[in-house]
Amino acid sequence: MDNTPRPLIAGNWKMHGSNAFAAELAGSLSDKVSNAGHNSFDMLLCPPAPLMGSTLAAIGAASIALGGQDCHSAEQGAHTGDISAGMLADAGCSYVIVGHSERRADHGETDDVVMGKAAAAQTAGLAPIVCVGETLDQRDAGEAIEVVTSQVVGSVPDGSSAGTIVIAYEPVWAIGTGRTPTAVDIEKVHGAIRSAIDGVIGNPGQVRLLYGGSVKAGNAEEILALENVNGALVGGASLKAEEFWAIAQAC
Ligand code: 13P
Repeated sequence: MDNTPRPLIAGNWKMHGSNAFAAELAGSLSDKVSNAGHNSFDMLLCPPAPLMGSTLAAIGAASIALGGQDCHSAEQGAHTGDISAGMLADAGCSYVIVGHSERRADHGETDDVVMGKAAAAQTAGLAPIVCVGETLDQRDAGEAIEVVTSQVVGSVPDGSSAGTIVIAYEPVWAIGTGRTPTAVDIEKVHGAIRSAIDGVIGNPGQVRLLYGGSVKAGNAEEILALENVNGALVGGASLKAEEFWAIAQAC
């Protein structure tokens, strides 16, 4: 029996789009998911917060989940510009990305901060997608596995289990660059993450480990077939319905 976790194909729209764009993209994917009937993957869309209403409306009854791109670690309070995990849940989200390298870089988020966000997400009933990944300098120095596994252990809240957390490996140098690690390198890192979560996350074999960083229709099949790769976190290519759908079809 195939005991691998069901793949998750997640689109991170980052700071792109408008209500009209969201309605068109989510509407088109909703049609595809519904028309396909049975799908062998879960699909997730993570639009910018102001576009969640129109995205959700366009998803309609289709089996597509909604997610946030970040949340605050506090339940509420004087944090201008921030969004709580509870607000995301209230808006219809079931996932939230935390610790994306763009947030780690732009907002100085440390593993401790990311862990606080992930814990807040779980308290609100959301599954955090905890992002980890090495820089090019770290890879060149042979430190990729050490950096990534230390981020995983440092960012995952105590008491997490397979159903309440997702990990995304996104090498910083592969994001938006068109470059990806070799298949062997992706498998090495994902295998190391799988080992690192043993004893840290409950039911480690069932935790979904996503790969992210220049996933396209053209490389999705090879990447998604790799051992311990249980889906993809897609940036640029998730902004085009046909291409994102082609990635999902590669599962
Ligand atoms: P790209 O797919 O554009 O490289 O972005 C990956 C990413 O950062 C997803 O979170």
